[in-house]
Amino acid sequence: MAVRTRSTDPAEHWWRTAVIYQVYVRSFADANGDGVGDLAGVRAKLPYLAGLGVDALWFNPWYASPMADAGYDVADYRRIDPAFGDLSEAEALIEEAHALGLRIIVDIVPNHVSDRHAWFQEALTSGPGSAARELFWFRPGRGADGELPPNDWKSEFGGPAWTRVPNPDGTPGSWYLHLFAAEQPDLNWNNAKVREELESVLRFWFDRGVDGVRIDSATMPAKDPALPSFGPDFTQSAPPKPHPFVDRDDVHEIYRAWRLVADSYPEPKALIGEVWLADPERFAAYLRPDEMHAAFNFDYLNCPWDAGRLRTVVDETLAAHAPVGAPATWVLSNHDVTRHVTRYGRADTSMGRSPQLHDAPADLALGTRRARAALLLNLALPGSCYLYQGEEFGLWEVSDIPAEARQDPFFFRSGGADPGRDGCRVPLPWAGQAPPFGFSPIGATGAPWLPQPAAWATQTAEALDGQPNSILRLYRTALSLRRQLPDLRGGAEFGWTETAADELLDFHRGDGFRCLVNLSAHPIRLPEGAELLLASAEMSESGRDLPPDTTVWLRA
Ligand code: GLC
Repeated sequence: MAVRTRSTDPAEHWWRTAVIYQVYVRSFADANGDGVGDLAGVRAKLPYLAGLGVDALWFNPWYASPMADAGYDVADYRRIDPAFGDLSEAEALIEEAHALGLRIIVDIVPNHVSDRHAWFQEALTSGPGSAARELFWFRPGRGADGELPPNDWKSEFGGPAWTRVPNPDGTPGSWYLHLFAAEQPDLNWNNAKVREELESVLRFWFDRGVDGVRIDSATMPAKDPALPSFGPDFTQSAPPKPHPFVDRDDVHEIYRAWRLVADSYPEPKALIGEVWLADPERFAAYLRPDEMHAAFNFDYLNCPWDAGRLRTVVDETLAAHAPVGAPATWVLSNHDVTRHVTRYGRADTSMGRSPQLHDAPADLALGTRRARAALLLNLALPGSCYLYQGEEFGLWEVSDIPAEARQDPFFFRSGGADPGRDGCRVPLPWAGQAPPFGFSPIGATGAPWLPQPAAWATQTAEALDGQPNSILRLYRTALSLRRQLPDLRGGAEFGWTETAADELLDFHRGDGFRCLVNLSAHPIRLPEGAELLLASAEMSESGRDLPPDTTVWLRA
């Protein structure tokens, strides 16, 4: 297997500075023409991804699943969902990606499995008191006939976090806990079998060459075994401390054990957590040297397009990571949030995802201009950077998906009040003038699983490839330059430039590199004598002024 030269210096481990591209397989490329993306589609596009200049690919769950939550309901971790391909194709994909210098990260979902998982099926047929039920959270209901859920917890997707099941004899029986959809029963991490199984799943994929895992809903697997109600004094959004199921101290034991697995390989595997926590210290605890290597920076994702707020988030991020020696991550979009071209084009740029803002008008030209500026900012900050498929095409959120085409449990469990996350999951446009825009091959039997907007004719890889100033070209140029510039590629020291104007972000990396982002409404004079390396937008004619919503990279 051809791989780049590896360093043995832990400070230089690849995940510390990598640019990681998120592949949402279902929407990436469809090779067999059924309207759903697949592994063969990804394999055909590996040269495209290597050419883009990213270092690693993160795949959302590709395992066998009934797809009640787009694969986050895993029925069998050791099989690939037939809609995507099979295990031998996944193995071939890993090998081909490695040969192109791309690392592979897969998604692991410790909090829950699918209700179709063999364990849960066995739990249902085995009945109350069985060992099979001990792997989950089954409890009798409250009320005279057990007709009320065991406590007042709510599902993240809306509605109660409990569903009642019949006894094996058909009479109404106990309830089981699901912090997400009813099709996603929560695992009981107090059970040794659960711990052993998930560690064995890690080894299964690490043994196949996978270089790291993204850990889904990483703060939630540990529960207070008493499963207490929030009661009259607290709510799920104003919870008691400790919280009955978020960020409990004992959750860290899981990741310490996983770190031992990760470190048992000649080239250690990376653990990257989905950790949504407001408290920077609690967040950083997941990144202690014997736990995860990195975690997604959701404060940055949720930060408005505002110089002061961005500066604060950058400072707080670096301060939180420093004591544990972990690399910061910079991420603006993923499969759960509104695409940032849309967010940055709204009057309120503050929320990663907000059902209330769904219909807010968005100036897409402005959003695109800011997205371009944000790319150069992200790539210049110290740490690693995550890109979500399609952001390199400047894709915006598709807000007008018809109700009958929607698939996200947020939509169903809220009775349609929350449109859900389908708008950022629409299949990618690769080429041509009309849907399916090369997502599916000519002669495809199925339409793309979510409808693509006709206006994406301007956003295809093919169309953007042909334009020297397109966003796709900017991604390629910036990624290639980031690789070449030692101050960006390595861990060169970061610092703000003291003289910075209010609505300007102005920082350096090492002695040789400087980045300026103009978030004001007027042009800002560039420093004298600096050599322009790259700009996110066309510069003023004199080349001496930095236009609004523009980032430049300078050689200091
Ligand atoms: C994570 C995933 C999201 C999924 C949820 C439940 O937040 O990113 O897509 O719905 O976990 O697994």
